[in-house]
Amino acid sequence: MKNFANKTAVITGGGGGIGKALAHMAADRQMNVVLADVQEDALVAAVSELENRQCPVIGVNTDSRQKAMIENLYTEAINKFGNVHLLFNNAGVVNGGPKVPIWKLPDVDWEWVYGVNFQGVLNGIQTFTQHMVRHGEEGHIVNTASIACFMPGGGPYNVSKYGVVVVSEQLALDLEAAESKIGASVLCPGWVDTGISDAERNRPSELKNDINPDGIGLGADKLLAGGKSPHDLAAAVFESIENDQFYIFPHPGWDYMLRAHTEAMLSRGAPYHFDLEAHVASRAAGQDI
Ligand SMILES: NC(=O)c1ccc[n+]([C@@H]2O[C@H](COP(=O)([O-])OP(=O)(O)OC[C@H]3O[C@@H](n4cnc5c(N)ncnc54)[C@H](O)[C@@H]3O)[C@@H](O)[C@H]2O)c1
Repeated sequence: MKNFANKTAVITGGGGGIGKALAHMAADRQMNVVLADVQEDALVAAVSELENRQCPVIGVNTDSRQKAMIENLYTEAINKFGNVHLLFNNAGVVNGGPKVPIWKLPDVDWEWVYGVNFQGVLNGIQTFTQHMVRHGEEGHIVNTASIACFMPGGGPYNVSKYGVVVVSEQLALDLEAAESKIGASVLCPGWVDTGISDAERNRPSELKNDINPDGIGLGADKLLAGGKSPHDLAAAVFESIENDQFYIFPHPGWDYMLRAHTEAMLSRGAPYHFDLEAHVASRAAGQDI
C-alpha cells in the first residue's frame, strides 16, 4: 500500500503503546482513524489527542476477544468512514506473576491471554478481510505477534503469538491466491517502551486468579523502558507496509536466537536454552533487542 491520504485505518489496542503510535503515524498521513480499545479512559484520551490534530477519528469500546464486539467495530468504522483500508490487529496482553511449571498455569491465564492475542487477531481477520478484498482498493492487514514466540517454550503469550505468525502466513498466501490488492504482514517486535508489563490492568474480573498479582516480572519493566520507542516502531511498520514486506522483525539483535532455535530443531536434539542474562548483556553491548 502506497497511498494513505483520506483512507481509513482501524487499530485494535489503539488506546496506548504501539497502537496509539500507529494511530499518530496514520494521522501524519492524513488518514481517518478508528481506535478500538477495552480500556475506556485510555481510549478517550487517545481519541482526543487525535482530534486535537484535526484527524477524523472515532473510538469504539471493544474487547477484541469478543467476536460480536469486533463485528460492532466493523459496523461503526464502515458507517463513519466507508471502506476500511488498513487493519492493525494489535491488541495484546501478557499474564503476570511468578513463573510456574506449565502444568500449574491456571486455565484463566490461557483463556484471557490466548483469547486476546490469538482469538482477537482471528476475529479481526474474519470480520474485515472479505470487505477489504471486495472493495477493490489497495489496503493492508498487520497482525501483531512478537519475537518472543520464536523463543523455545513459553506459556500462553508465546503460544498465542506463534499462532498469529501461522495464521498471518496463511492470510498472506490466501490474499495472493485471490489476486487481491490487500497485503499482509506479521509484526514481531523485540522490546518496545510501552505499558504492556502492566497488562493485568485489563484482565476481566471473571478471569482473575491469585498467582498473578501484578507486573510480568523478569525485570521486564527495565527491558521495556530501554526498548524502541513506540514512534520508531510505528515508523518501521509503515515503511514495511509501503514496501509490502510480510515478516516485520524490527529488532535485528534477536536474529541469533532465531538461528539458534532453528539449528536446535534441525539437530533433532533438545530444545535450545535461551539465556536471558546474556541477552540483556548484548543490549549493553549495543545490540538492538
Ligand atoms: N511492548 C513490547 O515490547 C512488545 C513486544 C512484542 C510484541 N508486542 C505486542 O504489541 C502489541 C501492543 O502492545 P503494547 O506493547 O503497545 O502494550 P500496551 O499495554 O501499551 O498497549 C496495548 C493496548 O491494548 C489494549 N487492550 C488490552 N486488552 C484488550 C482487549 N481485550 N481488547 C482490546 N484492547 C485491549 C490496552 O488497553 C492497550 O491500550 C501487543 O499485541 C503486544 O503483545 C509488544
